[in-house]
Amino acid sequence: MCAPSFYALPAALIQQQCRTSQYYVASDANAVVEHTRRVLLIEDNEVVHMRDDGAVHIFKFDSDQYSRRLLRPASVQRGLSTLEMEVEQIRKGNFEHFMQKEIHEQPDSLTMTIRDHLKTIRRSRRILFIGCGTSYNAALAARPVVEEHSGIPVTMEIASDLLDRQGPIYREDTAIFVSQSGETAYTLEALEYAKSNGALCVGITNTVGSAIARGTHCGIHLNAGCEIGVASTKAYTSQIAVIVMLALALGVDSLSTQQRRNAIMDVLYNLPSKVRDVLKLDRDMKELAALLMEEQSLLVFGRGYNYATALECALKVKQVSLMHAEGIVAGDMKHGPLALVDETLRIIVIAIRDASLNKQQSVRQQLKARKGRLIVMCTEGDAEFMCLIEHCLQPMINIVPLQLLAYQLTVFRGFNVDQPRNLAKSVTTQ
Ligand code: AGP
Repeated sequence: MCAPSFYALPAALIQQQCRTSQYYVASDANAVVEHTRRVLLIEDNEVVHMRDDGAVHIFKFDSDQYSRRLLRPASVQRGLSTLEMEVEQIRKGNFEHFMQKEIHEQPDSLTMTIRDHLKTIRRSRRILFIGCGTSYNAALAARPVVEEHSGIPVTMEIASDLLDRQGPIYREDTAIFVSQSGETAYTLEALEYAKSNGALCVGITNTVGSAIARGTHCGIHLNAGCEIGVASTKAYTSQIAVIVMLALALGVDSLSTQQRRNAIMDVLYNLPSKVRDVLKLDRDMKELAALLMEEQSLLVFGRGYNYATALECALKVKQVSLMHAEGIVAGDMKHGPLALVDETLRIIVIAIRDASLNKQQSVRQQLKARKGRLIVMCTEGDAEFMCLIEHCLQPMINIVPLQLLAYQLTVFRGFNVDQPRNLAKSVTTQ
């Protein structure tokens, strides 16, 4: 006889009985779990119409944002969800008080906090990465790994753009906020926006106690150590590492990818020594910077795992050396950027040995045919290096010489490295 039951967040408990159905309306799942686990979730600005014959309709009221007049309500189709609660959870058991019981539950609740959030993320319909500047680029670099291991669609949002267009976010989404400082104004506002839309909000910050760390439902601390230079460098690679680890944790139940996960973990473990190796390129980057210091403009072509590397290289060059630089996804070359190429333009092509290599070789040939002045970033020692590094982890290695290049360019051009003109470390106003 008990057909659907409801719980609605903003309402008091109402019980309605009729001949064929029994409904409960409550502001909290605890209130109905004794009677049913099948619930219909009601969101803000919605009205539910329950009829005697058991039919149920949801209507959403929206207001015209300019005139603030209520618009005609739209009918909403929504399926039932199942509560994952046990009745025991709302009973005192052998304890005198709930508080006493809950104090004793803490060892388990702390474990569950982490595990349950992973479960919630796994069940998400979509993962959104939200950030600004370098933090956005870090999430972009790790996006393919998250897609591969979670199987969940991942979308990327620059925080300000998400807010400008009030992009849709749903309660079935997991919104991951990436911010070194944890204080960036747009990212923070996007967090409030995502929370108000019911998404699970996860923070990835380098600052314990920051506004984003405090405001998210759960999160990961980078532990990269204090970063003082305005242009983010070490936080970038740590952000990618953390997101890769999150991706592996999300995919942990999949047997088919277990071998690959183990391989990635092994390489992650050895990553610091690989970074030490590429830091030895400092002198080469200094020579390259000496060659480029008088240029007006620099294009950086990347794709696949290294699309983000191209964006981040260009951002670093712009931020500190004050040279115009653009990161370009190489697949888009013929849709505009090719028009810029002539015998004066300096172009970095990231053509390392990965799944994109053949395509990047072709890009390289086409740029050369237009007499572009190419600097090709390629893999040293080919096969040997290949075995040592998973392609998806390459962005953490490849960005390092490019950071060095931006640094050396800045020194040669005589600009302030740590406090570039017009920029702030934490952008706390909009
Ligand atoms: C330069 O003004 C900023 N430091 C910028 O590069 C930075 O990446 C962006 O503001 C995001 O900062 P966050 O990671 O602290 O949120």
